[in-house]
Amino acid sequence: MNDLAGKHIVLGLTGGIACYKAAELCRALIKEGATVQVVMTEAATQFITPVTMQALSNRPVYGSQWDAREPNNMAQINLSREADAILVAPCSADFMSKLLHGGADELLSLMCLARPIDKVPLLLAPAMNREMWAHPATQRNLVQLAADGATILGVGSGFQACGETGDGRMLEPEELLADVITFFHPKVLAGRRMLVTAGPTFEAIDPVRGITNRSSGKMGFAVARAAHEAGAQVTLVAGPVALATPRGVQRIDVQSATDMLQACVEHAPAANIFVATAAVADWRPAQASDQKIKKDGSGQTPTLAFVENPDILATLARSAQALSGDLFCVGFAAESHDLLAHATAKRVRKGVPLLVGNIGPATFGKDDNALLLVDANGTKELPHASKLHLARQLVAEIARRLPTALKK
Ligand code: CTP
Repeated sequence: MNDLAGKHIVLGLTGGIACYKAAELCRALIKEGATVQVVMTEAATQFITPVTMQALSNRPVYGSQWDAREPNNMAQINLSREADAILVAPCSADFMSKLLHGGADELLSLMCLARPIDKVPLLLAPAMNREMWAHPATQRNLVQLAADGATILGVGSGFQACGETGDGRMLEPEELLADVITFFHPKVLAGRRMLVTAGPTFEAIDPVRGITNRSSGKMGFAVARAAHEAGAQVTLVAGPVALATPRGVQRIDVQSATDMLQACVEHAPAANIFVATAAVADWRPAQASDQKIKKDGSGQTPTLAFVENPDILATLARSAQALSGDLFCVGFAAESHDLLAHATAKRVRKGVPLLVGNIGPATFGKDDNALLLVDANGTKELPHASKLHLARQLVAEIARRLPTALKK
C-alpha cells in the first residue's frame, strides 16, 4: 500500500545535525509513493550535501532564490504551488524564529511565506539541543507558529549529538513518516475517544507457565493506528504481544482476561467507542500456583480445573454507558466455519450494534485478512486486504454508524 501515492512534498532542510535523518526520511516518503522536492538552506548544506539529497529524491535540489533554472526565476512560487505540503525537517530554532517573523531572505523561508496558506500546509519537525528547545523564546515561537497555522510534529527525547540527554531531538524518520501519513487522513473520528483491546490474554498456571493463544494482536493494533489517523484519541489495551505501539496511541499492557477487563472498565467512561479485537481466553486455571509446579518423577500429571473468564465485550456492551447510546461497542468474531451464521448470532448474544467476523485460523499472525461486517441492517464484506487497509475501512464504517449526538 502506498499511503502517500499522488502526494507531492517539498522537504525543507535547515541547519542541524539531524540533517542526516532527512536522507532516510526522503527515501521513506518516496517508498510510500510521494514525490519529493528538496529545498535546503545554506546552513543545511554544511551538514549534508545536495548531491545526496538529489540522488535520493531523483530531482535537483533547490537552495537559492536566485535559481536561474526557473524560467520566471521564482522558485519560491513555482515549487510551493505544486506542493501538497511543505515539511521542514529538521527545523532549527533559528528557522522557527525566522518563520515567526515572516523572514524571507533565502529560498526556504521565502517559500514558506509565499505559499498559499490555506492550500499548502506547513509541517515542522524541530531539532535542537535540549536547552535551546526548553528556552522560553523557542517555546513562545512554537505556540505562535501553531497559531499561524503550522503543524508542529513534536520532538523526540534522548541522547543528543552534543552529548546531553533530553528533549529536542528530531523525531525518527519512521515517526515523521507516520505523522505525515496521519496528517493527510480525513479526520472522521475527530473529537472521539476510542478504547481498543488487542492480542491474546495469558492465563497463568504457575509463575513460569500459562495458557494463551495464537492471536498476534496485529488487527487490533491496526485498528488503533487507523483510529488515531482518523483523529480519535486512542487507548489500546494489549495482551502480551511483540508489536510496536502505533504512534500517538496510549498503550496499556495487560496479561490476563481479568486484568484486561479491569483496564477496560477503568478507561471506558472516558471513551465513546469500544472495539474488542482481543482473543480473550475463555477459561483460566481456577487456582494459579504461586510456586512452579514440579514433577515428582512418579509419572502423575497435574489436574487443572478451570473457571470461565469474564466476557469483556458483553460486560461493556451491557453497561449503562452503552445502553444509553454513549458507548458504541464493536465486537470481533474469530470463527473457523459458518462465518455469517456465527457472526449474526454472536452480535445478538453480545448485544453490540456492529460485529466484525473473520476466519480465525486463516488470519492469526498474518498481515492480511478479510472481514464480514454484521449490523442490524445486514452485512457488508470487506474483501481480502492488509490489516491496516481493512482497519481504515472499518474505522470509516464505525464513523458512519456513530450516533451524531454522543454526549462526550
Ligand atoms: N470477548 C471478550 N471477552 C471474552 C471473550 C470474548 O471481550 N471473555 C470479545 C472478543 O474480543 C471479541 C468477541 O468478544 O470481540 C467475540 O470473541 P470470540 O472469541 O469470537 O467469541 P466467544 O464469546 O469466545 O464465543 P465462542 O468462543 O463460543 O465463539
